[in-house]
Amino acid sequence: MTLPVLLFPLFLLSSPGFANKYTVGDEKGWNPGVNYTTWVNKHSPFHIGDWLVFYYQSGMADVVQVDETAYNKCDASHPISNYSKGRSYAFELNHTKRYYFICSYGYCYQGMKVSILAQPLPPPSPPPSGDKSAAIPVAFAQISAAAVAAAAVLSLLF
Ligand SMILES: *[C@@H]1O[C@H](CO)[C@@H](O)[C@H](O)[C@H]1NC(C)=O
Ligand SMILES: *[C@@H]1O[C@H](CO)[C@@H](O)[C@H](O)[C@H]1NC(C)=O
Ligand SMILES: *[C@@H]1O[C@H](CO)[C@@H](O)[C@H](O)[C@H]1NC(C)=O
Repeated sequence: MTLPVLLFPLFLLSSPGFANKYTVGDEKGWNPGVNYTTWVNKHSPFHIGDWLVFYYQSGMADVVQVDETAYNKCDASHPISNYSKGRSYAFELNHTKRYYFICSYGYCYQGMKVSILAQPLPPPSPPPSGDKSAAIPVAFAQISAAAVAAAAVLSLLF
């Protein structure tokens, strides 16, 4: 009975306890005209230790971390942190709290702002999130795909 042995490490890899790296806005990056509320809903929950990577056009945007009041007003005048060098910025969510980021170039008013709640790491066992149910079928699919491929190769060879 080797199958559970194979499944176990695959399941661990997809466990929500591991730090994830998220590209803010996915392929759209950190730009005007992206609905970051939709993006956050798609990728939630975020956990402590996860990384956010902002990709932006050099000289066209910055990443300004602010508090909730400033976030609501698009006010970048008293930032917690601000970053505008190069074309990308990686930020680690290393506290359990809600983070607020805006762009100070005027696009915030059109929605170039993102608010992310970093949650505590879930206990490793039993994993409470929906990731577990997703992980098992994926693991099965990978194994069966590998088995089909192996069978195909064998049938070609012999
Ligand atoms: C973004 O999408 C959400 C639904 O996911 C919607 O409620 C919200 O109004 C949208 N925001 C903008 C600025 O379009
Ligand atoms: C970001 O920081 C730099 C240097 O500390 C400062 O000159 C600039 O005004 C800041 N920008 C914002 C939006 O706070
Ligand atoms: C928090 O994350 C930043 C990177 O975004 C890192 O430079 C800093 O050292 C971290 N702080 C702690 C206490 O881990």
